[in-house]
Amino acid sequence: MNKTLRHSYFIGNWKMNLGRAEAKELIKGELSELPGDSYRVVLAPPFLLMPLVSDLIGGSSLLLAGQNCYKELKGAFTGEISPLMLKEAGATYCIVGHSERREYFFETNDLVREKIVILLEQQIIPVLCVGETKEEREANRHFEKIKVQLSSVYDSLSKSERAKIIIAYEPIWAIGTGLTASSQQASEMHKFIRDWLASTYGDELAFGTSILYGGSVKKTNAKELFAKEDIDGFLVGGASLNAKDFLAVIVESGA
Ligand code: 13P
Repeated sequence: MNKTLRHSYFIGNWKMNLGRAEAKELIKGELSELPGDSYRVVLAPPFLLMPLVSDLIGGSSLLLAGQNCYKELKGAFTGEISPLMLKEAGATYCIVGHSERREYFFETNDLVREKIVILLEQQIIPVLCVGETKEEREANRHFEKIKVQLSSVYDSLSKSERAKIIIAYEPIWAIGTGLTASSQQASEMHKFIRDWLASTYGDELAFGTSILYGGSVKKTNAKELFAKEDIDGFLVGGASLNAKDFLAVIVESGA
């Protein structure tokens, strides 16, 4: 089945960057040239910028994502953000289990699963991040790592819940380092993920799931990566911080 039957995504993860003025400038630039209707463009700003971004993109085809959330809807969880709050701010997507959350904030596969469950209950589409370290790849444990990260989430979900998840493969050694996985390394892992979905849950889920690549994506590598059958778009960090670079990734990919 052809990749055109799946949604393509370009998701800009701003991480802990940009202030209000920069965000306004960025969105002005993006709105001036966006987008075709063959793909979806999603912005994931820091929480405090979400209401502003939501206002600025209102009425356009741009979509809003949280970068993270908590696993409960409300209560005494100082410093956390509820999926309800994301929804109220206009988010329809939420990144979950980013390697920076797993590494710096000790998020486990179990916590990632709980967050995904509550997001799905709130009709927010989770973007589940998976990825291996350099050491794991060198020890040839990268496929096993990804399989564990995926199965710890997917195994407890229902068929209809599984069908809603977007996967982002982000090799940790390629994030913010300027090192990109080669298109061969990326497509090999994307194919592994799709084959795992097919053999575990069936072809329908495997063919319908969008699998994005992330890790130093920029205009110079977007075309080669996006040309691969199993790469359905990108989760972009650094290159999403100004409109020119982000739009160039989209244009160069040829989506
Ligand atoms: P970079 O594009 O800056 O490598 O970041 C990738 C990423 O972590 C997106 O979530």
